[in-house]
Amino acid sequence: MPPCWTLSGGIVLVYSVCEQNEMLRIRVLHGPILNLLGSREQSIYGTMSLDTMDSAILKLAEELAVEVDLRQSNSEGELVGWIQEARTGYDGIIINPAGYTHTSVAIRDAIAAVGLPTVEVHLSNIHQREEFRHRSYIAGVAIGQISGLGPTGYLLALRGLHDHLTASRRQKKTSPPSTSRRAARGTR
Ligand code: DQA
Repeated sequence: MPPCWTLSGGIVLVYSVCEQNEMLRIRVLHGPILNLLGSREQSIYGTMSLDTMDSAILKLAEELAVEVDLRQSNSEGELVGWIQEARTGYDGIIINPAGYTHTSVAIRDAIAAVGLPTVEVHLSNIHQREEFRHRSYIAGVAIGQISGLGPTGYLLALRGLHDHLTASRRQKKTSPPSTSRRAARGTR
């Protein structure tokens, strides 16, 4: 918990002020076989390795003053675990679920359960490829999907999620507490 929780008196107000100034934290998840980027089906996924892509994400995160945590797994269960874990301490998720995009109700449910703003990324344009790739189980619980722009898609996702989270923090800061709104309307 941020140290501001330990201050006593007007805790809700104190927390909301601290929240505004805290660094955004985003978890970036790469699904199965993305560890082979650079050598895997280069005509579709290009020649950039996952490490190089992660370095570009980290560089942009530094510019945006966002903390990112990058992980890759070939296991659906591990991805579900990392999504659940993000519930505490993270503000949003960027995920390329890879093959699980088209099969995983569990990953979709995990994203819905944690309720964190999530951006879905695909290197290739899944809508131009085989029909089984046109369906994403994740799209319905994501705030957006970026597909077909290669590694740039991750950078756009990071910028987009950063802007989304910054705007919602700003909105929380400016909107009056619900009790005073009720009082202003004279309702109980
Ligand atoms: C992918 C597209 C998926 O259909 C595929 O299974 C992948 C990668 C992409 O980034 O283009 O593994 O998510």
